[in-house]
Amino acid sequence: MKVAVLGGTGRTGSLLVDDLLERGQQVVMLVRDAKKAAMVADRVTLIEGDVRDPDAVARTIDGANAIASALGPVGKDATLLRDTAGIVTSAMAEAHISRYVGISVAGLTLPADRKRPRDKVISWLLNRLGGELAKDKIEEYSAWAHSGLDWTLARVPRLIDGPLSELDVDPHVSGRRTTLTRANLARFLCDAVVDGRYSRSAPFLSDR
Ligand SMILES: NC(=O)c1ccc[n+]([C@@H]2O[C@H](COP(=O)([O-])OP(=O)(O)OC[C@H]3O[C@@H](n4cnc5c(N)ncnc54)[C@H](OP(=O)(O)O)[C@@H]3O)[C@@H](O)[C@H]2O)c1
Repeated sequence: MKVAVLGGTGRTGSLLVDDLLERGQQVVMLVRDAKKAAMVADRVTLIEGDVRDPDAVARTIDGANAIASALGPVGKDATLLRDTAGIVTSAMAEAHISRYVGISVAGLTLPADRKRPRDKVISWLLNRLGGELAKDKIEEYSAWAHSGLDWTLARVPRLIDGPLSELDVDPHVSGRRTTLTRANLARFLCDAVVDGRYSRSAPFLSDR
C-alpha cells in the first residue's frame, strides 16, 4: 500500500511512520520542515507544505491508497482539525481515495456511548472549559461522519511516552485506564489503515 501521512514529524506521527515502514508500506509525508523528517528521508517521499494548503494536500495524497493522520495543533491553533478535515475530505473525494485514519479525543461524546461516570465528568469539564479546542474536535468529527468516506477516528485519553503494550479498544465504552502510550496509538493507527478495520467509527483506546 501507499499511505499518505499527515503529522508524521510529531511524537505519535514519527512512530506511525516507523510502524508503516516496518510493515512494508510505501509512505508519503506532508511536512512543514523537511529537516524534521531527516531520519526517514531516504525511505519515504517528502512533500513540503502546510496541511491548510489544498495543493500540497492534493500532491501528498496523489496515488495513495489511504491517509493516516497524527496531526495535532501546535501553539494556539484552535481550528487546525476542522480546517484540515474540510480540505482533506474534498481532496480525497477528488482523488477517489476513501480510507482515512486519524486521532480524536476521549472527551468527545457520541450518542451511543456508555462512558464511565468518571469520564462523563471529565468530558463535561473538557467541553465546558476547552473552548475552541474542544469545538475543533466536535467539528472535525462531524466533517468525517458526514463525509461518506471510509474514516476511523481513534478517541484517545492522555497520551504518554512509553513502550508498546496491550491496549483496550471499544466502540462505545471508555477505557479503564486514563492513559495511552504514543507507541500503542501509533500501532493502532498503522494496523487500522493497513488492515482497514474500524471503518466509520470512533473507538475509545486506552492502555490495558
Ligand atoms: N497530548 C495528549 O494528551 C492528547 C490527548 C488527546 C488527544 N491528543 C491528540 O493526539 C494527536 C497527536 O499528539 P502528539 O502529541 O503526537 O502531537 P505532536 O507531537 O504535537 O505533533 C503534531 C504534528 O502535527 C503537525 N502539524 C501541526 N500543524 C500543522 C500544519 N498546519 N501543517 C502540517 N503539519 C502540522 C506537526 O508538524 P511540525 O513538526 O511541523 O510542527 C506535527 O507533526 C493530536 O491531535 C492531539 O490533539 C493528544
